Amino acid sequence: MKVTLFGTGYVGLVTGACLAEMGNEVTCVDVDMDKLARLKRGEVPLYEPGLEPLVRRNQANGNLGFTINAAPAVASAMVIFIAVGTPPSEDGSADLSHVLAVARTIGQHIRQYVVVVNKSTVPVGTAEQVRAAISEQLAARGAVVPFDVVSNPEFLKEGEAVEDCLRPERIILGSESARALAVLRTLYAPFNRNHERILVMDARSAELTKYAANAMLASKISFMNEMANIAERLGADIEQVRRGIGSDPRIGHHFIYAGAGYGGSCFPKDVQALRRMARGRAYEPLVLGAVEAVNHAQKLKLYDLIRRHFAGQLKGRTVALWGLAFKPDTDDMREAPSLYLMRALWDAGATVRAHDPQAGDEARRICGERADLVICDHPYQVLEGADVLAVITEWKLFRSPDLARIRDALREPAIFDGRNLYDPEAVEHAGIAYYGIGRGRSLRISSMALDAPLTAFDVLPLATV
Ligand code: UDX
Repeated sequence: MKVTLFGTGYVGLVTGACLAEMGNEVTCVDVDMDKLARLKRGEVPLYEPGLEPLVRRNQANGNLGFTINAAPAVASAMVIFIAVGTPPSEDGSADLSHVLAVARTIGQHIRQYVVVVNKSTVPVGTAEQVRAAISEQLAARGAVVPFDVVSNPEFLKEGEAVEDCLRPERIILGSESARALAVLRTLYAPFNRNHERILVMDARSAELTKYAANAMLASKISFMNEMANIAERLGADIEQVRRGIGSDPRIGHHFIYAGAGYGGSCFPKDVQALRRMARGRAYEPLVLGAVEAVNHAQKLKLYDLIRRHFAGQLKGRTVALWGLAFKPDTDDMREAPSLYLMRALWDAGATVRAHDPQAGDEARRICGERADLVICDHPYQVLEGADVLAVITEWKLFRSPDLARIRDALREPAIFDGRNLYDPEAVEHAGIAYYGIGRGRSLRISSMALDAPLTAFDVLPLATV
């Protein structure tokens, strides 16, 4: 099938490559010349396991092409995906300008029946706006061309996106058009094997499903982070509690890990946008507000522990940091807890020496050259001249550390384990002070006066560095 895809960002590129892999003829359209030039050379401008070979293979066999020229790509397509960004506007609502610009381009160039598919995460009601924008352009041309708009949200996880796309748990099609549904059932047939994964619903419900899924997952995380903060104060260990509650199948073991807070391009943005939508209809979503507030505080949790460890005196200290990306297997630092931690440390006069297996360049790009940030190529290099070590991203590389080496290298051996990767007793046994998240049984934390403020602890603004 001839497929055109607008947007070669994360979602667009993965979707395009996977559709090409199934034998479709896919053309990806983007407005960024540099990015297109890189893609044409077979260079994938983001780190995602398995994506580059997939892109290269399908480019080589002619199934995947990249262009800036929208007109022919629109005119010849049977299905057109919109996968452009919907960044948050200043007020927290999703900015639809890119989506609607693509819709207008589609309206200007379609010649025959086409199914327009919304892949971008868009506010409820956007499918109707896309339809209106296309119709307006058709009317301006004096053309009558049939088309349908379908909401088909993506559920890709960064780091596992190719796998998620090739073997989806569900394929949500929001449309009431039998014609459009028949086309998409054919397109998705190779992804829909063994058991039925396609769920058909109206477009508004499909749009809300995406927000509801992300908000539910974000809620699980904030709930566990709140439990961790309670466990810490009550002398319990959240890791034991997690196993205890996860064994109830109604709760489940997934996504109940306390940590340094959730980041990334989806959860923070989508929870905010959903709150906004609800408020727009005169409803204040109390749970969502709490989910955000807990997460905001949690991103500063490691900073709070480090600050308390040093009795508020961070000036001139050096903190070694393992991890910069918002989660492992990506170089993405959008809304990453590391940015909040580093910013707080810098404001307090400390220096950071950081290592991340993939996100070093991204950190340099975001933070720029600064004397209080040293990015190291090797994980143990960060320890040179550092007082303590904080771990904020659970890369596999950090899971079995050489504790003796850490103890010998640090000036004041202490590990702040933002992902509860280590056994507190083993760390203490090696002669290193251990601080985790919600691990009230660890001696260090139980002896800390957690509720007594040391200094005025300003809540940092939500904006990143
Ligand atoms: C998420 C959704 O999982 C995906 O379905 C959707 O399409 C896009 O948003 P992603 O942003 O790639 O995917 O990251 P995810 O793996 O879900 O992790 C999000 C954040 O939650 C990370 O910062 C992670 O560290 C944190 N997290 C996750 C926890 O703190 N605890 C957990 O138990 C799980």
